[in-house]
Amino acid sequence: MLTTGPRGTRDILPDTSGYWQYVEKTIRDVCQKFAYQEIRTPIFEHTELFLRGIGETTDIVEKEMYTFTDRGKRSITLRPENTAAVVRSYLENKLYSGPQPTKLYYVGPMFRYDRPQAGRYRQFHQFGVEALGASGPAIDAEIISLAIVFFNQLGLSDLNLFINSVGCPQCRPVYRDSLQAFFRDKIADLCSDCQSRYERNPLRILDCKQDGCTKHSQGAPHLADCLCDECGSHFTGLQQLLTAAGINFTINLRLVRGLDYYTKTAFEIQYAPLGAQSAVCGGGRYDGLIAECGGQPTPGIGFAIGIERVLLALEQQQLLPTVLNAIDVFVAPVGAEAQTTAFQLLTELRRAGIAADMDFTNRSLKAQMKYANKYPARFVALIGQDELVQSKVMMKNMETGSQQLIAAAELVDWLIGEMKK
Ligand code: HAM
Repeated sequence: MLTTGPRGTRDILPDTSGYWQYVEKTIRDVCQKFAYQEIRTPIFEHTELFLRGIGETTDIVEKEMYTFTDRGKRSITLRPENTAAVVRSYLENKLYSGPQPTKLYYVGPMFRYDRPQAGRYRQFHQFGVEALGASGPAIDAEIISLAIVFFNQLGLSDLNLFINSVGCPQCRPVYRDSLQAFFRDKIADLCSDCQSRYERNPLRILDCKQDGCTKHSQGAPHLADCLCDECGSHFTGLQQLLTAAGINFTINLRLVRGLDYYTKTAFEIQYAPLGAQSAVCGGGRYDGLIAECGGQPTPGIGFAIGIERVLLALEQQQLLPTVLNAIDVFVAPVGAEAQTTAFQLLTELRRAGIAADMDFTNRSLKAQMKYANKYPARFVALIGQDELVQSKVMMKNMETGSQQLIAAAELVDWLIGEMKK
């Protein structure tokens, strides 16, 4: 137990953390271009927030939350997603009093007691975006466009955008009735969860992954056919905006999403080669959530992207950066006497802003060269007996193989000149 982490968790090791930094840098670049600002909320919240926000009949709340009672006897939950927490923070910190919409993004770990498999973990990481305080379809199009630009910037291809409208509290009761009518004579064939969903929230049956339920929901009525005028024109407006922006999409009338807060727009971006875990991005509008959490009725829309799945897709398409830990100089002392001079030089290089390292384990010169190549290092600064006597350093350019003897006192200036080349 002491040498194995909990099931569904993974360490991000030094040989891959550079990939994460690369993706995170892309996130920050894109969000800055779209004028979204970062928000960091706590990793745990009061359980009540997720019960109210996500919905008591969702899989996340019924089966997947990490909930515990703290020493003060409060029920606490590790966040399974971050939209509800962002809404809580928006209200608590009165972010609504500034210019609207409030455009936010976040990157961080989420926790769900899911069945672990490739692309599905119990601790996973999301990059999410939320825009609160704007109701028209233009902000929906902006949010979707941000996700597409992010994937494009990483170079990913073969992604498909699916959109749907899940209506609003006005049109949903009509749909609920027609869904119940559809499932009435199939109740006995549904799984036990869906049998109880039939009364409590029949829309959730469409999201059930059990074979029987998937089969019996074939041919179920679509919400898009029951939309009220406002939801209908919002959905048409979104399609026009996406078309105008040159964003390809497919309408998927079966897309319901696994959280209860959605209204109107729902969307997913899928990368099919990931198989069962093909959703790399999921999002939608949640016009009732802010009021549900105790605020004034305020519209909102957002998405979250699973970073592990993005990394899997990047790996499959061979788009991960090849050089992660490059340094400018590796200082290679040969013999114990050269250690002090080498350390002095290393310190000078670092003070001058040059990325440098040195040998700390008395390797042979051959082993040091091999080690330097692993980073890779652009130059090796070799300090042997001759160099020590002359106060010089033998600089080896690792790309070209050329060598040059440089006075130690001039090394920083010489390197700065070389690195500009
Ligand atoms: P979600 O669809 O539950 O939506 O999750 C969004 C994305 O997180 C998924 O498409 C997937 O890429 C990733 N993901 C979810 N569960 C796992 C898991 N167990 N392991 C690995 N990756 C996973 C939400 O969370 C909403 N808060 C999105 C949103 C923001 N809607 C509006 N604003």
